[in-house]
Formats: sequence, C-alpha cells, structure tokens
Amino acid sequence: MTDTAIAVRDLRKSYGSVEAVRGVSFEVARGEVFGLLGPNGAGKTTTVEILEGHRRRSGGVVRVLGHDPERAEPELRRRLGIVLQGGGFYPRVRVREAVAHFAAMYPSPRDPSETISLVGLEGKEEAFARELSGGQRRRLDLALALVGDPELVFLDEPTTGFDPAARRTAWTAMRSLRELGKTVLLTTHYLEEAQALADRVAIVKDGVLVAQGAPGELGAGRDRYRVSYRSNGSRAEHETDDPTTLLHRLTAEALARGERLEGLEVNRPTLEDVYLELTAEEPVR
Ligand SMILES: Nc1ncnc2c1ncn2[C@@H]1O[C@H](COP(=O)(O)OP(=O)(O)O)[C@@H](O)[C@H]1O
Ligand SMILES: [Mg+2]
Repeated sequence: MTDTAIAVRDLRKSYGSVEAVRGVSFEVARGEVFGLLGPNGAGKTTTVEILEGHRRRSGGVVRVLGHDPERAEPELRRRLGIVLQGGGFYPRVRVREAVAHFAAMYPSPRDPSETISLVGLEGKEEAFARELSGGQRRRLDLALALVGDPELVFLDEPTTGFDPAARRTAWTAMRSLRELGKTVLLTTHYLEEAQALADRVAIVKDGVLVAQGAPGELGAGRDRYRVSYRSNGSRAEHETDDPTTLLHRLTAEALARGERLEGLEVNRPTLEDVYLELTAEEPVR
C-alpha cells in the first residue's frame, strides 16, 4: 500500500476535435483534501470523471488507489464515493430510503441515520427527494457518496447553488471527512471554499494545469507584495518584491519627518489574486 491515492500523469482527453484535457499531471496523497479549481470549461469534470471510471481517457497514465479506473473493477468502485456535478437520483424516493438503498451496495457502510445527520438533513428522513430544495438535494447527494464509508471521495462542485448557511454545513461535513482520514478530490469555482477546505489546490485553465500548491503558498511564491498606508486622507500603495527594503525606506522617511505611517499594511497576493491572474483571458488579438 502506497501513500499515494491518486496519480495522474500527462492525462489527455479529446471530444472529437475539442481537446478538453491537455497533459495534466498531479498526485494526491492519502488523507489529503485536494481542490481542482478553474473556470467553467477548464476540464475539471472531465478529469474527475476519468478518475471515477466514468470516462475513457485519450492518453496518459492514471492510478486511483492503485487501480486503473478504466478497467471498472468492482473492488475499486466499492472504495469510492462520488458526488456528480449534476447530481442524480430518483425523485420518488424518500431521503432515508435512498440512503439505505445506497448503503446496501457497500460492504461496510456507515449508519444511514448518522450519515443523514452528518450532512445536516436530520428531520428530512421521510421527505421525498423531489420535495427537497436544491441545496438539500445536494446534501442528499453528499450523503449518498458518504454512506458507503469510502476511502476516496470525489466531489464535483458539491456546493454550487447553496445558500451561505448550507455551504457552511457542507463544509463541516467535508471537514469531518478529513478527520476520518478520507482522501477527497473536490472541484469548485468558489475560491474561499478551496481556501477553507483544501490542503493543496491545482488551478486548471483550458485543459492545462497552470499552478498547484497549498492555497496559502500559491500566492507566496510570487514575489509581489503590496504595501499600503494612509497618507493625506487617501491610501498610498506600493508594489514590491522586496518588502523589507521598501518598509525600511518608507518608515525611515516617515520618522525623519516626525510622522507615522497610519494604517500600514503589507499584503501578499491572495489565492484569489493568483487565480484571477492565471485564469484571465488573454486580450483579443
Ligand atoms: N461529452 C462531451 N462532449 C463534447 N465536449 C465536451 C463533453 N463534455 C465536456 N466537453 C467539453 O470539454 C471541455 C471541458 O469541460 P468540463 O470537463 O465539463 O469542464 P469543467 O468541469 O471544468 O467546467 C469544455 O469545452 C466542454 O464543452
Ligand atoms: Mg464541471
């Protein structure tokens, strides 16, 4: 048994003439929460569906818990939990029935009631799926993915369309997965979600991985710091790759004038700054 849950090397996928994934490589360690970030059409769902065994790749090497998902081995399938981007289950089934039905397909499932509570659907056990709100349905999707007590969970935009309270509940459920030692591959276009949940993220654009690392460090590697302070009623801003020298000069000058730099701040680019920079559309030529 290795420490690697997912290994992807030079993954490629074409739909006819559309190259949706163009040579993506990354690894996810066991117990890690890994976020795939990127705008619509970047190739996130395609990548995830290949890892789940729902799509065939055009090229590259993929290992999921030591298996090639393309072989669709039941042994692998039983170790995975999956939340599809579109969701999808039968509307005429009650919440408890749906969860119990999925539980029965796994060798050592979690308790269905406990799973329903975990995703914040307690009290809705007897509701029909079609009576649930969009956010509640998404939570049911999450419950269905978790009830098999999988080692590895794929969550494709698990909180899209949630109101802020539902998103927090889902985050709690996802954090509990990490505490249980599960490996999670999450796609999202909410940066704060990636920042809150993921140990590492990869940013994808047009089928290519443009950056990867811990959310807090993606900005750190880029040497642009923003130094700002209040000056004559407005905010003065400087960008620098050497904040030590800049601060030394600015503060020395201020002290020499007998002043203070009010509201002094030094900021590193946030994940959002990096994301927007890396995924920006090139200007039309
Ligand atoms: N079944 C399909 N047939 C043809 N093109 C597809 C299919 N699925 C996705 N695509 C195209 O592949 C690209 C990547 O899509 P997708 O993986 O769904 O991106 P994301 O999940 O990041 O939004 C898009 O250009 C999309 O239109
Ligand atoms: Mg998608």
